[in-house]
Amino acid sequence: MQKTLLIFLGLLGVCWSASLVGTTGDQEACLYEDEIWGGEDIRKFYFCINGEVYEDTCDTDYYFVRNATYSGCLPSALMNPQCVNLDAVEPDCEGLSAEQPQPTDLLNQYYLCTDDGVKQLSCGEDKAFINQDGYLGCFPWTQWRTLRNCSEG
Ligand SMILES: *[C@@H]1O[C@H](CO)[C@@H](O)[C@H](O)[C@H]1NC(C)=O
Ligand SMILES: *[C@@H]1O[C@H](CO)[C@@H](O)[C@H](O)[C@H]1NC(C)=O
Repeated sequence: MQKTLLIFLGLLGVCWSASLVGTTGDQEACLYEDEIWGGEDIRKFYFCINGEVYEDTCDTDYYFVRNATYSGCLPSALMNPQCVNLDAVEPDCEGLSAEQPQPTDLLNQYYLCTDDGVKQLSCGEDKAFINQDGYLGCFPWTQWRTLRNCSEG
């Protein structure tokens, strides 16, 4: 408990300036009073103050993990590789990459080869890019987690 709270306070210090947007539709009830917890979007985490749920987002290239040993934002290199795109590179737009969108190191974006060169596009709200098992495109985080076998960090 003590250790978690310290991590919690440390994180608040680091992340407070980030996108603190108040109560969210995704997580309506306080899961914990004095611990942070994750949601479907692997970049986000939640915490409670006076019975209200707040949402925050890890820094770019950091992802939220909560398991027996860790609770907080971890850099992608320390994540379960199934949960991050460690080897994504800008496509050369030859062969298959000329026709199909490709993953970027940001999970909610993808590369698209166009006549004007490679574009990096966003999936939009609450979705992540996947190219696996016949799924190609932007899918809700829940589905992404199932397909990637990434239930937690
Ligand atoms: C917790 O998650 C981190 C990051 O994925 C991993 O390195 C660590 O081994 C995990 N701990 C447990 C007990 O699963
Ligand atoms: C998904 O993860 C579980 C637990 O780590 C593992 O037992 C299983 O083989 C994995 N499945 C796939 C398709 O990677």
